[in-house]
Amino acid sequence: MPKLIIANWKLNPSTLKEAQKLAGSIKKVRKNTVVLCPPHIYLSQVKYPNLGAQDCFWQDRGAYTGQVSPQQLKDLKVKYCLVGHSERRQVGETDAQVNFKIHALLEHAIIPVLCVGFGTTAEEDDLAVVDILRQQLDQGLNGLDTSKIIVAYEPVWAIGSGKTPAPEHAEKVSLFIKTKYQVSKVLYGGSANLLNAQSFISQRNVDGLLVGGDSLIPNHFNQIINY
Ligand code: PGA
Repeated sequence: MPKLIIANWKLNPSTLKEAQKLAGSIKKVRKNTVVLCPPHIYLSQVKYPNLGAQDCFWQDRGAYTGQVSPQQLKDLKVKYCLVGHSERRQVGETDAQVNFKIHALLEHAIIPVLCVGFGTTAEEDDLAVVDILRQQLDQGLNGLDTSKIIVAYEPVWAIGSGKTPAPEHAEKVSLFIKTKYQVSKVLYGGSANLLNAQSFISQRNVDGLLVGGDSLIPNHFNQIINY
């Protein structure tokens, strides 16, 4: 089965030239589906078969300073959009807002990638994993056709830390999310890298990866997308 590998560039790189160079150095593979999510400002100028956005707003027009609409993303041929990333939740995004965004994306036939996960330590994650995930998923997916939605499970303590849960933990949570919510795919994210990518994507219910840091290193990312 082909896997879905999404590169989340976050607030990188610093210039358009570097962004174009980075996109140009990522191979086009057949084996897996690869999506690049550069910052909004580069979306119209970066060339790659599948582009994704890192966030969006839920209204299509109006007095919303600084926002980017799903309609604008669609016009730039964006196919995927991350929603509810923990770095957005940290600056105040709520489950209700996440839900509005997913509704708006589906109206424009952009595939939403709902990011869920929490916990600042591995122990905390284990204790409350099901409760918090349930809340994020129940509210984020409220009233939606879940078969059109991808979920990325990212324990917050694993993001950018170089630490990961065991691949079997990702498998267990992915199976739980798929069984309970009937979403189309579940990805793993949080320090997924060249060395551990294969152990995650070889899990039966882990349908791919959301990669931050290692997606900025072409030599690493090109190997990850070729597993
Ligand atoms: P990381 O980021 O791979 O750098 O941990 C993943 C993410 O935040 O989506």
